[in-house]
Amino acid sequence: MIVINSPHNPSGTVWSTADMIQLQNITKNTDIIVLSDEVYEHIVFDDETHKSVCLFNDLKQRSFITASFGKTFHNTGWKIGYCCAPKYLMEEFRKVHQFNVFSVNHPMQIGIAQFMQDENTYLELPQFFQNKRDLFLNLISESRFKFTPSKGTYFQVLDYSAITEKHDVDFAKHLTKVFKIASIPLSVFNENNKDDKVLRFCFAKTDDTLIKAAEILCKI
Ligand SMILES: Cc1ncc(COP(=O)(O)O)c(C=O)c1O
Repeated sequence: MIVINSPHNPSGTVWSTADMIQLQNITKNTDIIVLSDEVYEHIVFDDETHKSVCLFNDLKQRSFITASFGKTFHNTGWKIGYCCAPKYLMEEFRKVHQFNVFSVNHPMQIGIAQFMQDENTYLELPQFFQNKRDLFLNLISESRFKFTPSKGTYFQVLDYSAITEKHDVDFAKHLTKVFKIASIPLSVFNENNKDDKVLRFCFAKTDDTLIKAAEILCKI
């Protein structure tokens, strides 16, 4: 099985059509299954579009898509999502699923069903988060942090190599303790904990919080 995730947490990068075609070519005539984590499918910026595995004929025959209502309807923590796959894969999936998740609680199913009635809830999502990304990035443009704007998700990676040589885990702890601003060091996701001197910040916050965070970051 190959597991992919686009839009990607933590880097905020997205796969292009060329990337997807490459994956399709690599897996063609093999028995490799693809698990495509597409929970941020509706949060893609700068007029790009999400490239789901189900848009590629050969790829979709071998792929599971996992999706989360939590990301689409701003209710992380409800832990309700869905899985799509061709029938022959879904038959296998259901054998496990019925024992893993007997049912999802009823009030939250009704809540999700109501959200789904209004397509604006997810169609307005990219602009909603792009405004927050742009606000945050504009406010820190004069800071010593360097960045490539996030292309999707609600995460922004910032490069702090101009500020300190500190290991990213140590610097993240330092920012939390001394400056009261929390981030995630990317080395914890990397093979051999490779440290590229970058931290992940979440911009799914109120504008006031983003403004306060940017003021802090500009002083560092
Ligand atoms: C890439 C990715 N996949 C899956 C999940 C899980 O989503 P949920 O908790 O909404 O089911 C997350 C949550 O942060 C995520 O970032």
